[in-house]
Amino acid sequence: MKEKSFVMLKPDAVLRRLTGKILTRFEQRGLEIVAAKMLVIPRELAQQHYAEHEEKPFFADLVDYITSGPVLATVIEGEECITLIRKMVGATNPKEADTGTIRGDYAIDTGRNIIHASDSPASAEREVKLFFKADELCDCSFPDREWIYEEP
Ligand code: RTP
Ligand code: MG
Repeated sequence: MKEKSFVMLKPDAVLRRLTGKILTRFEQRGLEIVAAKMLVIPRELAQQHYAEHEEKPFFADLVDYITSGPVLATVIEGEECITLIRKMVGATNPKEADTGTIRGDYAIDTGRNIIHASDSPASAEREVKLFFKADELCDCSFPDREWIYEEP
């Protein structure tokens, strides 16, 4: 089933000039980038985005981190891509992330783990709507789909 995931390259990914390398991984896998924008997240939006962690001791540090510089917010589409992208991203603590995953290859600390990806269809829907208007998502036609999917 085709899904959309909200994937955000955090300020460390942008400022370490890793955005191209990371997006390339999703493109190479056969996933489709259907929306993208660079922005510095207002504090209130960061708090809404991570509302599930409001009561956690790391919440203030998390909001500081995520608002500390520009992020590249994207929507990525593909069959069952929410789970697929979480696998590509790797464990929350990069020290525990497998080599070959994004966090496992580019990060060390949990508080500098370079990328966010939606963890369920409900989160994906909520997060995409927080960051994008419906008309900012492209209904793209990728001509190579028949080489990615048996039934495009
Ligand atoms: P994300 O939401 O950013 O994709 O990360 P995640 O699902 O892998 O992890 P989550 O539990 O949702 O945590 C959100 C972000 O909060 C920071 N964090 N710090 N110090 C800590 O114990 C701690 N735990 C989480 C990380 O930046 C994590 O990505
Ligand atoms: Mg999360």
